[in-house]
Amino acid sequence: MSVVKINAITVPPDKQERFEERFRGRAGAVEQTPGFEWFELLRPTEGTDQYLVYTRWSSEEAYEAWQSSQDFDRAHDGGGDTLAPAAAHSAHLWSYQVLESAGPRANQENQV
Ligand code: HEM
Repeated sequence: MSVVKINAITVPPDKQERFEERFRGRAGAVEQTPGFEWFELLRPTEGTDQYLVYTRWSSEEAYEAWQSSQDFDRAHDGGGDTLAPAAAHSAHLWSYQVLESAGPRANQENQV
């Protein structure tokens, strides 16, 4: 069963541009990690300063292996205080199991 790990990070408005820039220059190592299935950076559009870093993994173990790996550390070091998107206490990790999922049906692609 796949698991979803969402890092919810509050980023004050004056740091959002820099935060997004950092993700544009992200390591890209996660894509090559065993068990990795999906990543999305979600920008809030109303009512909150909370960005969501959505990741999906084939198992809890796959996520934990990445989280304790050098790739994770490398993806998160550098920058220092001036580049830090927000205080550490403003990030929360949410964990879910994927019970159901769906995408568009392939045979409807060309229908109007
Ligand atoms: C205080 C906690 C965290 C903060 C402030 C944070 C912030 C960031 C930032 C700014 C980046 C862009 C790269 C950089 O400039 O460093 C990044 C990369 C990333 N973060 Fe986090 N992060 C945190 C923890 C986590 C956790 C727990 C997850 C698990 C879902 C996660 C998932 C990712 C992923 C998937 C990337 C891209 C890595 C890659 O491209 O290989 N982050 N994070």
